[in-house]
Amino acid sequence: MTTRHFIDLADAGPDAVRAMLDDARARKAARAGWPRGKADADRPLDGHVLAMIFEKNSTRTRVSFDMAMRQLGGTTIVMDAGSMQLGRGESVADTARVLSRYVDAIMIRTDDHRKVVELAEHATVPVINGLTDHSHPCQIMADLLTVTERKGAVAGGKWAWLGDGNNVLHSIIEAGSLLGFDVVAACPEGYDPDAQVLEAARARAGNRPPVVTRNPHEAVAGADVVVTDTWISMGQDHVDEKLAALTPYQVTEALMGEAHGQGLFLHCLPAHRGEEVVDAVIDGPQSAIWDEAENRLHAQKSVLLWALGKL
Ligand code: CP
Ligand code: NVA
Repeated sequence: MTTRHFIDLADAGPDAVRAMLDDARARKAARAGWPRGKADADRPLDGHVLAMIFEKNSTRTRVSFDMAMRQLGGTTIVMDAGSMQLGRGESVADTARVLSRYVDAIMIRTDDHRKVVELAEHATVPVINGLTDHSHPCQIMADLLTVTERKGAVAGGKWAWLGDGNNVLHSIIEAGSLLGFDVVAACPEGYDPDAQVLEAARARAGNRPPVVTRNPHEAVAGADVVVTDTWISMGQDHVDEKLAALTPYQVTEALMGEAHGQGLFLHCLPAHRGEEVVDAVIDGPQSAIWDEAENRLHAQKSVLLWALGKL
């Protein structure tokens, strides 16, 4: 078997994504109520080690991958890039070659998507994208799991995105085109998602192409899922002009009221309450954000199992 990297959802493909979601649901149910540090009964990654490299801050990705490995029977090594030789100029390729001799898989969070691609090119063990400036596929696996739990399925639904056309939106657009749900993204001019991501998704999606609009009401109309994210991503400067452009895209109670009555609110977190979303929505009855955060753990266990050829 060739080495399986998890860089973007489209690389894995729809069948693999569905298999990971099925596995995540089964594993989550099988350990309901157990202490969080107790390993799953089958310990499928017994003896395996995941190296994690962080070039950017993280709470959820760091802790959920660490707990995922513990629950699968394995262990982790967590490194901040600044304290590695990578942080003082050792090449990504050489880092990949060396780590491949020590560990069984590598997860990296980095500013530049090309670094994940380069790491994967030179690694002989699976490489997992833990967020880049371009995409955040692990987050969307958790989002897909959350929507499946709450609504029974993702196919055929409508997801509305309000805000910046960023890394999280790119992975949602990709997921919609793979699994057959509508994505309508309301973004202000100048903050659209990447044209290549849209083009690739439109080519895959057939009769459910992703749509970009300037009108937040059009996006949320009848939506099953309303999603937003910070207006200023890690590594971006706080620019007053950007904040002003995004203000009409704040998720308010009034906008949520235009979604489907049972519509869910999702946010990858961390949230900037009072900017992209108001408290009444993020803390309101339609919000699924704590399940969504928990599901990072369950979804990533299945990503790890898939990447290591156990699924
Ligand atoms: N959602 C997410 O990736 O959170 P962290 O930045 O805390 O890892
Ligand atoms: N778009 C955000 C996601 C954080 C999890 C960022 O890149 O900072």
